[in-house]
Amino acid sequence: MNQNQQSNALIMIFGATGDLANRKLFPSLYRLYQKGKLTRFAVVGVGRRTLTNEQFIQNVQNSVAESIANTEASDLETFASHFCYHSHDVTDSSSYIALKNIADDLDAKYELGGNRVFYLAMAPEFFGPIAIHLKQDGLTDVAGYKRLIIEKPFGHDLTSAQELNNQIRTAFSENEVYRIDHYLGKAMVQNIETIRFSNAIFENLWNNRYISNIQVTSSETLGVEERGRYYETSGALRDMVQNHMLQMVALLAMEPPIRLTPDEIRSEKVKVFRAMRSIVGDEVNDYFVRGQYGKGTVNDVELPSYREEPMVNPESNTETFVAGKVMIDNFRWAGVPFYIRTGKRMEEKSTKIVVQFKDIPMNLYDNPEKELTPNLLVIHIQPEEGITLHLNAKKAGQNMEATPIKLSYANTGIASINTPEAYEKLIDDSLNGDATNFTHWDEVSLSWSFVDEISQAWSQTPATNYPNYASGSMGPKEADDLLEKDGFFWWPVNQLAVDVC
Ligand code: BG6
Repeated sequence: MNQNQQSNALIMIFGATGDLANRKLFPSLYRLYQKGKLTRFAVVGVGRRTLTNEQFIQNVQNSVAESIANTEASDLETFASHFCYHSHDVTDSSSYIALKNIADDLDAKYELGGNRVFYLAMAPEFFGPIAIHLKQDGLTDVAGYKRLIIEKPFGHDLTSAQELNNQIRTAFSENEVYRIDHYLGKAMVQNIETIRFSNAIFENLWNNRYISNIQVTSSETLGVEERGRYYETSGALRDMVQNHMLQMVALLAMEPPIRLTPDEIRSEKVKVFRAMRSIVGDEVNDYFVRGQYGKGTVNDVELPSYREEPMVNPESNTETFVAGKVMIDNFRWAGVPFYIRTGKRMEEKSTKIVVQFKDIPMNLYDNPEKELTPNLLVIHIQPEEGITLHLNAKKAGQNMEATPIKLSYANTGIASINTPEAYEKLIDDSLNGDATNFTHWDEVSLSWSFVDEISQAWSQTPATNYPNYASGSMGPKEADDLLEKDGFFWWPVNQLAVDVC
């Protein structure tokens, strides 16, 4: 099958009236269509609600028009004409059989060669039962390829993830399962490998001889919003650390793969997960810090505490912030802490990686006010996308003083294009059978094992100091202490902007 034939497919979106479908999936499909990457295709929206095809098509057009400026009405109409809707009961075989008939008709109408992509964008408790029905009721019995795209959360802990995986694997083989971690679709997360493996100046220094610590921060300004019910059972550890944060650590720490193929890259990432020091019992307090946001004022707006949010227990023990020290016990990284930090209702929305290099052996420069600033490589993941290298250079004038300078590259500044949305890339990859930026079961299971120890320790000793950070701050003081006791501090992410002239 060539590249074009790969993207000829019937896409079934379960959860088609939901938020993710409307905000991300329809606009991403439209962008692929606009770029000519999606020509022969049909989409069946599957949802519990009763909608006519016309109503659904109108919804699709509205959500695309809302998120993409300057859409052309006729173009959008043609795109949306490839969509239809099926009102579905996920537990009822007859509903799947009706869906199969629709799918077979569309397959013949658009000559899709029997290629089928099933996108599960709905409540996770249905993932397993749907996969089982898809097989049982004949929807996966196709002449072309069949692929399952599955949203997070993939389980709640290792045991439930294992159970879900077993259910899915009755219908799909591992290489047909595309587990979404949308951070892996972000342009600058993908750039971590390119920065590391295509630059002689970094790869030689990328180890415990030259790097003192690495800091990964993903802060959000939003609170838990309408997702209280889900978040109460998840918390920041399961919601962000088990997946996005540890995936970024794996990309930063992995060995160069022998080739840039999905299998080679994943097998290097898996080795990182295997080398992560497992933190057990009382040790958790030395390595990890949790927090929950209290009230605060941001831009003159008074914000409620987490415990006052809708669907949240007024005495909730759920963490909305996590900071931790991850140690990777292998030759390259022994002794180098990877600090991670993520939270809701923080000072700013930003994801950044700061690689701090070790100090040079001695300072030859007169800098009466301060010591030489260490070299930093900052990878700006979002909202800015770019790289900054912090160096020292001679201060202008008659002196022998060194002063910090920055070399910056901004993705949009130089390339003058908007980088595609993570979802657009991930859908494109899955249509083309490229699983590089999806998580393999081995990564999922190892990351759950790591995180389960921490959540177990926390569930045995409920936090007594919640709320322990104000909305609009950078998290609890304990997160600063975590670095301070190692002789480090969090580089202030709000002062590390990319500036490109
Ligand atoms: C999701 C989490 O996976 O990632 C959300 O469930 C979080 O709670 C979101 O807000 C953050 O993603 P981004 O791309 O906005 O950083």
